[in-house]
Amino acid sequence: MTDQPGWAPPGVDPRRANTARVYDYWLGGSHNFLADQDLGRAMAAIEPNVRAITRANRAFLGRAVRFLAANGIRQFLDIGSGIPTQANVHEVAQQAAPGSRVAYVDLDPVAVAHSKFILAGNAAAVAIEADLRAPETILTSPGIGRLIDFSEPAGLLLLAVLHFIADADDPWQIVATLRDALAPGSYLVVSHGTSENDPALAQAAEKLYNRSASSQAHARTREEILRLFDGFALVDPGLVYVPLWRPDSPADVPEHPRRFANLVGVARKG
Ligand SMILES: C[S@@+](CC[C@H](N)C(=O)[O-])C[C@H]1O[C@@H](n2cnc3c(N)ncnc32)[C@H](O)[C@@H]1O
Repeated sequence: MTDQPGWAPPGVDPRRANTARVYDYWLGGSHNFLADQDLGRAMAAIEPNVRAITRANRAFLGRAVRFLAANGIRQFLDIGSGIPTQANVHEVAQQAAPGSRVAYVDLDPVAVAHSKFILAGNAAAVAIEADLRAPETILTSPGIGRLIDFSEPAGLLLLAVLHFIADADDPWQIVATLRDALAPGSYLVVSHGTSENDPALAQAAEKLYNRSASSQAHARTREEILRLFDGFALVDPGLVYVPLWRPDSPADVPEHPRRFANLVGVARKG
């Protein structure tokens, strides 16, 4: 297509809203099309907190990566990594612990193309296109194998991605497959949309999103999300609404944390 911007790889359909690009729009990024903006605005009309939720999710990512770095983790596998924005995992990790290695994985060609672009010249980071629903493909990818040594503890980041995996694709088994490949002392970081606080709102948001987005969203209950951590031990404060996970300052905790519709947790494989 001749009217596509330079950052959009061939084959990208600008008329269909795309999960990575809608998220980029909410974060104030520039890698999105009108269809993404339309869906982003429609979602914001029924969930006015959606931009604050996405920013809170990114802030959690930063706190979690710094926590892992402080606990000795020097290699990170970030699946469903998205279109790079500010404070990406390699930036946070390599600032906290120089030399940290980061592998990004996403299904979306725009996310992967832009990740490759910003990682050019960074020998300690890589981006590959792969599907979380086929975890063995990720584990055996030569690109991942060059950076991630699965015999050493690693940080597995699954942020705002597992709610795009349907029950039929068994997200619990997917996480278990990845867990079994990790060395003891590794960490799992999850953020996941939940229906717990306001089931009617979650259902309305899901319905609207799923009508036009490239990936179908599935908000889950606390119990369903907790099961993703099977075989890991959650670190304090456990599975909590996103602003409540080890905030940098008490002033960062909003008045109604439950309105931040993502539950998050960090857990260690013993
Ligand atoms: C909401 S964004 C989250 C980005 C980033 N993890 C964060 O939390 O800021 C979700 C990302 O997951 C990706 N994604 C959705 N389904 C996926 C799958 N089956 N395999 C890999 N990536 C997937 C989308 O392309 C998108 O980039």
